[in-house]
Amino acid sequence: MELKGKVAIVTGASRGMGLEIALELARHGMRLALVARGLRQAQPADIPHSLAQAAARVQEAGAQALAIPANVADAAQVEAMVQAVLERYGQIDVLVNSAFWGPPASIEDTTPEFWDQTLNTTLKGPFLCARAVAPVFKRQGSGRIVNIGSLAGKVGEDNRTAYCAAKWGLEGLSAALTEELSRYNIHVHLVSPAATDTPWWREVGANMTPQVVERMIPPQVIAQAVAWVLQQPDQVHIPDVPVYNFRNPFEGKKSPFET
Ligand SMILES: NC(=O)c1ccc[n+]([C@@H]2O[C@H](COP(=O)([O-])OP(=O)(O)OC[C@H]3O[C@@H](n4cnc5c(N)ncnc54)[C@H](OP(=O)(O)O)[C@@H]3O)[C@@H](O)[C@H]2O)c1
Repeated sequence: MELKGKVAIVTGASRGMGLEIALELARHGMRLALVARGLRQAQPADIPHSLAQAAARVQEAGAQALAIPANVADAAQVEAMVQAVLERYGQIDVLVNSAFWGPPASIEDTTPEFWDQTLNTTLKGPFLCARAVAPVFKRQGSGRIVNIGSLAGKVGEDNRTAYCAAKWGLEGLSAALTEELSRYNIHVHLVSPAATDTPWWREVGANMTPQVVERMIPPQVIAQAVAWVLQQPDQVHIPDVPVYNFRNPFEGKKSPFET
């Protein structure tokens, strides 16, 4: 697909991978809608956490950017978000589901509320967003959904029960949507990163030694993978782009949260 002039919604775009994806798609001439709850303030100042700051950075990259504060786990907010994008741009060509929530937690610390917040943001969110754009894509006769999966959607990880369940679920959601929507020329892709250097790791207190940082995937690489997969022609189906660490950042552990 030619990206120039097309419209992309990127969830989780206030920081981390979502922001890098929005910036990369902006460089390809896309018009952007940036979605996040937008609750975080810019702390520290060199890591833009606020949605407005993120949108300003995308505009600095030369693209149109609409910031839409919305909780992807809330069906009404997701529907309103899609309507706002249509009102602004008149079309939607791409949905990138990058928003997630899910700190590490033991099974005992995974309360039902914690489970719900993880699954509601990380699995139900992509479902609700896909459900809201599907009629638009069908009307247009084309559309692309990129779900940001994870290595944790392919292998189990210690102290990540709810997160792994959500990411394995996202793989199933992507496969089912592919079956249902491909006849409408709607492509569904997964991009599945391993450990990637985003603010999340510092937020959950991971020990970011120079070696860990050195071995993590730069988020720009994931953003480039998203742009690459979107640019493939319609007759090509790319179900998943797994991106692994070349060397394990965590010295023989699958994650720093192993006990
Ligand atoms: N970092 C890694 O090593 C890694 C590895 C594999 C896969 N991934 C996947 O990559 C994606 C991005 O991860 P990241 O590390 O960039 O995460 P991050 O830095 O923690 O960013 C998460 C984003 O999601 C937004 N968000 C959280 N809850 C939301 C909600 N209910 N509604 C709307 N937006 C919400 C956050 O903004 P607000 O708080 O303002 O809402 C933020 O913009 C996720 O799907 C994650 O599972 C990450």
